[in-house]
Amino acid sequence: MSVIVVQGYYPLKGEIEIQGSKNAALPMMAAALLHKGATVLDHVPMIQDVFCMMGILESMGCVCCLKDHRLTIDASQVSKAQIPKDRGKAMRSSIVVLGALLGRCGEGKAYYPGGCSIGSRPIDLHLGALRKMGAEIREEGEVISAGAPRLSGADIRLSYPSVGATENVILAAVKAKGDTVLRGAAREPEIDILCRMLVSMGARIQGIGTSSLWIRGVEELRDITYEVPGDRIVTGTYLSAVMAAGGEAVLRRGSPRCLGRVLDTMRTMGARIRLWEDEVGIAMDRRPKAVSVTTGPYPGFPTDLQSMAMAVMAVGEGEGYLKETVFEGRFATAKQLHKMGAEIIIEGSEARIVGKGSLKGAKVRACDLRSGAALAVAGLRAEGKTMITDCCHIFRGYEDICGDLRNLGGRIRRES
Ligand code: EPZ
Repeated sequence: MSVIVVQGYYPLKGEIEIQGSKNAALPMMAAALLHKGATVLDHVPMIQDVFCMMGILESMGCVCCLKDHRLTIDASQVSKAQIPKDRGKAMRSSIVVLGALLGRCGEGKAYYPGGCSIGSRPIDLHLGALRKMGAEIREEGEVISAGAPRLSGADIRLSYPSVGATENVILAAVKAKGDTVLRGAAREPEIDILCRMLVSMGARIQGIGTSSLWIRGVEELRDITYEVPGDRIVTGTYLSAVMAAGGEAVLRRGSPRCLGRVLDTMRTMGARIRLWEDEVGIAMDRRPKAVSVTTGPYPGFPTDLQSMAMAVMAVGEGEGYLKETVFEGRFATAKQLHKMGAEIIIEGSEARIVGKGSLKGAKVRACDLRSGAALAVAGLRAEGKTMITDCCHIFRGYEDICGDLRNLGGRIRRES
């Protein structure tokens, strides 16, 4: 069991490169299943969820090789259309493999997916859409069995712009018979990159970047090499770290163009932000000002940065407000921040945060991936030491949060 120890009250200063995007890489890996050949992905993050997805693909007969952030997936032979239970339940993304399996094999077996405990996270939108495309889906306990001799294109409207359901439909539609129109699609940047990768493989997709996608099924795809973009949520995490600790930083490959609403919010809180091609620079020489933030589907404020915003406001000044509209159970960070002396009042999906200027180091627990990272952010502006347990959650999505923050001058280390 490892812990993360943070020694607070040191401003940050430095320049680092942001890892590849977890939430882009995972569906891109699933997309490789659609092609009876090789797919090469560059700038792949070396994180637990990627290793887990590799295990899922290998259990089906794919050959995966990951070296120096370059992942080669040879999906020439797929002999088993079944997601293994342990890995399927280890992360949410496993469910999008179902769409790819139906597209490749005409059948698939999956388990109700796991992942961060941030709400009920049903998959009704996923299964409803796949049924519309002709899949026969049986749900027996936690097992999902799906079959379709060949999926047919369909006219689908999502009642909520679910990222995962959008990805599942795209992966199922690329080799389906005929045209699929998907309305109410999610517009997160990870959807964009998945569509662009598939188009470079030979898929036919229009409306990329909008909430209405048109996909015409094709018979064959081709070998490609494609780059995973920088992780916008990791960028947002480290920008939040500078805002909490004070100082300045330059984050290369930070995907700033995908962080519009976040950067605007940070400017309002007093940060000076500079943008280059794929870099973002931040300077913070005051305590963060309180703001009101409401999370929502892209291009709204991302729910994945809600915990970070809470931590920054907890060490800021004034009374801030957070409304979480995406996941009903995503305020776990508050209870841990209370242990550090934060003043946060939770009422349903709303949180009021009274900025204290700084917190006190304490022993806290990472309840999920992003709330764990938020505790590290808070620890950077806490007197004394903060110890974060259950930090295995954090390593599912952050390649080297301790190394990155140390390279920015933070006093943070991992201890077994
Ligand atoms: C993806 O999760 C991300 N995960 C999440 O990031 C992210 O928070 C989320 O999108 C929203 O942006 C990955 O990409 C691996 P949703 P996903 O389907 O696809 C409800 C992280 O920290 N819903 O858009 O599961 C659902 O309950 C993770 O990296 C249904 O009701 O998100 C939720 O309230 C955490 N029925 C809302 O929609 C469904 O069938 C958004 O879920 C599907 C979703």
